[in-house]
Amino acid sequence: MTIAVLPAALLTMAQKPLYKDAGQPVEKRVTDLLQRMTLEEKVAQMCQYVGPGHIRETQQRFKGKKVAKNDDAYGFYPNLSINDLYKMTEEGKVGSFLHVVTAEEANQLQELAMKSRLQIPLIIGIDAIHGNALVSGTTVYPTPIGQAASFDTELVERLSRESALEVRATGAHWTFTPNIDVARDARWGRTGETFGEDPYLVTRMGVATIKGYQGEDCQGSDVALACGKHLIAGSEPSNGTNAAPMDVSERTLREVYLPPYKAAVEEAKVFTLMAAHNELNGVPCHADKWMMTDIMRDEYGFDGFIVSDWMDVERIHDLHKVAPNLKEAYRETVAAGLDMHMHGPGFMEGVIELVKEGKLAEAQVDRACRAILEAKFKLGLFENPFVDLKKTRKTLFCKEHKATALEAAEKSIVLLKNEGLLPLDFSKYKNILVTGPNADNHTVLGDWTLQQPDENVVTILDGICQAAGKEKVTYYNYGDDVRQDSPEKVKEASELAKKADLAIVVVGENPLRYQKTKTCGENVDRMSIDLLGTQELLVKEIHKTGVPTIVVLVGGRPLSVNWIAQNVPALVQAWEPGSFAGTAVANILTGKVNPSAKLPISIPRHAGQIQMIYNHKPSQYFHKYKDGASTPLYAFGYGLSYTTFAYSNLKLSGNKVSSKDSFTASVELTNIGKSEGTEIVQLYIRDDYSYATRPVKELKDFMRVTLKPGEKRTVEFTISPDKLAYYNRAMEYGVEPGTFTIMVGSSSMDKDLQKAKIEIIK
Ligand code: BGC
Repeated sequence: MTIAVLPAALLTMAQKPLYKDAGQPVEKRVTDLLQRMTLEEKVAQMCQYVGPGHIRETQQRFKGKKVAKNDDAYGFYPNLSINDLYKMTEEGKVGSFLHVVTAEEANQLQELAMKSRLQIPLIIGIDAIHGNALVSGTTVYPTPIGQAASFDTELVERLSRESALEVRATGAHWTFTPNIDVARDARWGRTGETFGEDPYLVTRMGVATIKGYQGEDCQGSDVALACGKHLIAGSEPSNGTNAAPMDVSERTLREVYLPPYKAAVEEAKVFTLMAAHNELNGVPCHADKWMMTDIMRDEYGFDGFIVSDWMDVERIHDLHKVAPNLKEAYRETVAAGLDMHMHGPGFMEGVIELVKEGKLAEAQVDRACRAILEAKFKLGLFENPFVDLKKTRKTLFCKEHKATALEAAEKSIVLLKNEGLLPLDFSKYKNILVTGPNADNHTVLGDWTLQQPDENVVTILDGICQAAGKEKVTYYNYGDDVRQDSPEKVKEASELAKKADLAIVVVGENPLRYQKTKTCGENVDRMSIDLLGTQELLVKEIHKTGVPTIVVLVGGRPLSVNWIAQNVPALVQAWEPGSFAGTAVANILTGKVNPSAKLPISIPRHAGQIQMIYNHKPSQYFHKYKDGASTPLYAFGYGLSYTTFAYSNLKLSGNKVSSKDSFTASVELTNIGKSEGTEIVQLYIRDDYSYATRPVKELKDFMRVTLKPGEKRTVEFTISPDKLAYYNRAMEYGVEPGTFTIMVGSSSMDKDLQKAKIEIIK
């Protein structure tokens, strides 16, 4: 039933409608509002536009230039002025904005929305991927790959909760995170935005992120909606290029790519999902009913809303060439289960026409609109859509958030190699050379960051100067461009190295999306995973002088730094540690903080080894490469500490267990070194014989354990039947009787694992 359309002024004069009564349950409010809405108003809720500030900025940037459609900076609408967009907002023709980067702009847009007939507030989304870093002056936490290296779900939940506060403080309510794609190709520029290669680790990190953002039930003004993305399998793109086609079996989807989504929906109750740029098995993901409706909604019970990715609805027509025109693309995507269109004009008119022509069921529109309205009610936007600017100032980059950002950075840095040079006692050195393209700039902040104030960023050089004393540090400015070939600069740096008694060389990648010199991040894919330009030469020449050399790697993707790994005495994988990168790196180098992080992704020796994963099938290396090793340079789960942990006495609670029962595995862990440290104890399993092939091992649990020197602890894991279950040849999920190998230890490498067998009976 649709009631008569009343203008806004009359509506406020009339008796307060039920949907405006905060005392009523959300469901009733949604139903009440929905029945007051015209078809046009309902479809409008499904429409998202980029913020006027963003439009202005991209218009400036592209002034007079032709913008290619595949340029993702295509953040403006050629035939729509900002004033048109304001007017549409006032008329209730916009349901959502993305990339509104100031609280003032968010308030201005909400004011316009409050003039619309039904006064439905806007929901504003942003890519707050590791903090609300697209907004200036916010706390920048390590990128997800570094977060995953901490194996610390409590920390990730906490930093996500803080990020939600920073999102809300700038007028947004929804973040397009977590990226729960399982990363399987290091050439792919988005690797740093993922939680790595392992489905279980990605799942646990994804759940922690969603819980952190959404709180108990997405309720109130302190939480933000999360978004599980991207459906699906775009993280193993053919040839490594973003959005390239994927051809994946249902087995691989269900074993590798879907588990994080299943948990996001069933366990963490993620409110939104995003479809992927890529096609899957011949179907553009934005038109994939099987994925969006049959699996997500019908099988997993998802009842939030699904948003499209940037321009991808249009690409069903103009890239994938599946829909012969845009209107057909709109039809396909809504019919397949998509609820909100990111971004731009055309969609609203198209969908309205399709419903009127009987080509799309209005029920599809109602479903979408209902979920979007539910979110707006839950987030408290009908009560107050505005943000208090005083709160903004108090929340962003506040003391508590800064402390978490530093802790997260320290827990994310992986010590890859140490031949006794570390931990450093800076008092022993008189002249410390610091150089390299990542030593003194914002590349440590990672992708999905816009310019942050210099004073909010501790560069690695800053951190070393603070820890060692500025007077001892010689900084050689190698330049910021990681791609540059500068043999002269290498020469100058190595001349300085001759006079130094320690060299710290900071090399890697540039993930900064606002710089032309970027080499990783979204849409920045590579053919090789070697260090670019003369960076390796820089390390070689400095090392050749005989000065003790430490290499620090910055960037989101694993790099095949073979020569460095073989030759320099100390190597640190810093990833993209965020606002306090320098403090964290210095604390790790000096041992003020004992490194604890482990690799959430294998580091290949060569791009030709891709896909390089620890949880491969048994036949993967039946025949070895003839021109190099078949092992990674560094394996998943590996990472050093300044102390030593010994594992002993792996015991299982039985040697025969029913497939319906849980059992435990316990191991004794002793700190046999000289300093306190934290070990990440890892549990892997292998199904010894199975009807369909199984990986050689799979991570099934992990635990962070802190021990003082000499301290011993028994660490126990409970292995429930779901940890042993798999899809058999008939794609039935369950536990197959037989023996399993249970492995516990410090990395995924066999030499680091204690093993025991158990027989699973019917
Ligand atoms: C990315 C998404 C992101 C969106 C909005 C797209 O290009 O693939 O992950 O959320 O842009 O910024």
